[in-house]
Amino acid sequence: MRLDRTLANSGIGTRSSVRQLIASGGVTVNGVTAKDPGMQVNDGDKITCGGKEIGIKENLYFLLDKPDNILTAMEDPRLPCVGDFIPDELKGKKLAPVGRLDYHTTGLLIITNDGELSHRLQSPKYHIAKRYLVTFQGPQWSGKEIDAVSSGITLTDMDTPVKTAPAEISVINDNEAEITLYEGKTHEVRRIFAHFGKEVIALRRIFLAGLETDKDVSGCGTLRELTEDEINLLKSSVGL
Ligand code: URA
Repeated sequence: MRLDRTLANSGIGTRSSVRQLIASGGVTVNGVTAKDPGMQVNDGDKITCGGKEIGIKENLYFLLDKPDNILTAMEDPRLPCVGDFIPDELKGKKLAPVGRLDYHTTGLLIITNDGELSHRLQSPKYHIAKRYLVTFQGPQWSGKEIDAVSSGITLTDMDTPVKTAPAEISVINDNEAEITLYEGKTHEVRRIFAHFGKEVIALRRIFLAGLETDKDVSGCGTLRELTEDEINLLKSSVGL
């Protein structure tokens, strides 16, 4: 892991401020003053900052293409869950899914132990785009309904009526549409479709904050680490 990233992850400061700190000679690794912000450090290394030892916290970032019939939880006594896709050697790393996909929803799910990033990606304040491919049965979307969704509708299917944030519908054909949300209310896509008498048959998240996954389900069940560029993309989308 890079030294500057390790220090930033530990809450010392932003990447650019920790680079300045390194340049000023304020950081040591195993007793030697560090000069290169890109030097690799590992779990056992002793790092000091301004003479004070800091703990290394390795942030990890994964993308799981979630299959159908899987619970969005790290463990469950009864049901198969996304935690089952995490290799055993990472079990102690406090990884957690960023938000939830329903048991029957497939597609893009980020799993990380970067709590601040996770919190911000889920906060409506940051207006993070999440796009879903929806296969549905029922009447075709009318222009009037699409306009209503784009201004926000009031869902009255649960105890308390709730207003949805503006969302975008893009019709593909009589049974398929894409919907882009900027918030994450419980079962929001299914409820918006149901509000207009359309039943969701299959739901797949294909885009989140600039990251994409295939529209077809052939990659379901694959887990991969995000690249440095993808991590930076996510972070910059929420001001980190
Ligand atoms: N909206 C839903 O209805 N379900 C999901 O899994 C995600 C968004």
